[in-house]
Amino acid sequence: MKILQTRRIPLNSVIIACLIALTLSCRQQSRRPVITMPATELSAAPLIPKPQVVTGDGRAFGMDRHSAVFTEESEPEYGDVGEFLAEKLADHTGLQLPVNPANTDTLYSGIYLLKDPELHGEEYRLDIRPDSILLWAGTAEGSFRGIQTLRQLTPDTANDTLAAYPIWVIPGGSISDSPQFSYRGGMLDVARHFFTVEDVKKYLEVMAYYKMNALHLHLSDDQGWRIEINSWPRLTAVGGKTEVGGGPGGFFTQEQYSDLVAFAASRFITIVPEIDMPGHTNAASVSYPILNGNGKTPKPYTGTRVGFSTLDTRKDTVYQFIDDVVREIAALSPGPYFHIGGDESHVTQPDDYKFFIERIVPIVRKYGKIPIGWDEVATADLDGNVVAQFWSDEENAKKAVTKGMKVLMSPAKKAYLDMKYDSVSRFGLDWAAHIPVDSAYIWSPETYSSEIPPEHILGLEAPLWSETI
Ligand code: ACM
Repeated sequence: MKILQTRRIPLNSVIIACLIALTLSCRQQSRRPVITMPATELSAAPLIPKPQVVTGDGRAFGMDRHSAVFTEESEPEYGDVGEFLAEKLADHTGLQLPVNPANTDTLYSGIYLLKDPELHGEEYRLDIRPDSILLWAGTAEGSFRGIQTLRQLTPDTANDTLAAYPIWVIPGGSISDSPQFSYRGGMLDVARHFFTVEDVKKYLEVMAYYKMNALHLHLSDDQGWRIEINSWPRLTAVGGKTEVGGGPGGFFTQEQYSDLVAFAASRFITIVPEIDMPGHTNAASVSYPILNGNGKTPKPYTGTRVGFSTLDTRKDTVYQFIDDVVREIAALSPGPYFHIGGDESHVTQPDDYKFFIERIVPIVRKYGKIPIGWDEVATADLDGNVVAQFWSDEENAKKAVTKGMKVLMSPAKKAYLDMKYDSVSRFGLDWAAHIPVDSAYIWSPETYSSEIPPEHILGLEAPLWSETI
């Protein structure tokens, strides 16, 4: 039969044919790689947070040693964003992409960071084509948010092809994105355990990757005071020396704090400083016993109980102290907010608590900042220009809304990063809930509570308390 008559091809001919094919394919690769391997379809890419509009086209961009970053010539800040992108891609892939290379003879596949004045703030548009990537934004901040999407789309491994060099395949199509909420924060408790400048910078790097734009630093608590205040030096000389479990504690000098503020700003993140008052103040009272209002001799505390300390809300010295602290920290903090704490003041009488909050809000405003407080502050007589951070009590959230206050959503049952995943988690607490990853992801701030209508929501924040961390 015919099929049996098929001529057998000698082995050495096969080898020669393969070598020719390989040579041709290498030649073609060295001109311009044509990506035919299927990338992840863009619309299925696991991007966090999920962009507003994602349209895949089944094609792809191959990022390789012939790629380069080009940035809007007239905008030096876009150049900084381009340098940041190249640095992160080098860490991730090993590729050293030039930024605005001078040698125009070379044919590059370009990643272009461009300005589009029609786009505003953090908004951006990404067009991923086989020959180039175009990232459009109206501001460097928008461009910075957009490059995080690009970083998240860059696979961990290069494509396994016959190319003589590795190619990272970025799925093709377009993305249009802008944030639903203007405030997207993380909180780090540097008071229960102290974290160094390097630790906080790492945290900021992770936050930037997820397009978060506010780092709330919990700078004081019963167990430690963590920021240098020149006019009250014992706060750090004494109050900075303790932490949960008896470790050495620590604190940020004002210079270190300013370094963090600048590092955060280079990632378009605002630092929100918190001095927690009138409760959670044992370390302040150990440093200056005159501040103490709980009737007991203050002693250093390294345990994890809450709610036993209070400032003396009826003493003028206390308000002079707060004025000095807010003045010094506000002068180092360019962001719009100052967090006054206000949670779990269980040994402060309710009338004293209200009196205190109503007295310190004008101090914060005097130094040009918008006060934020944990949801309990809504029990005081406040106007709408204070933000209530909802963590626990829906009645407080309801009061805040009635007063016209904006609400920052941090429901402990969903947003607290220190809650254990499950009963076998080693670290963390579980008083609010076990929060496995899916539970943390699948909730919507605007439908979480019927007491908090979407138009009152400033944004959301994930606190990381550090009793066990
Ligand atoms: C809090 O978790 N005490 C705000």
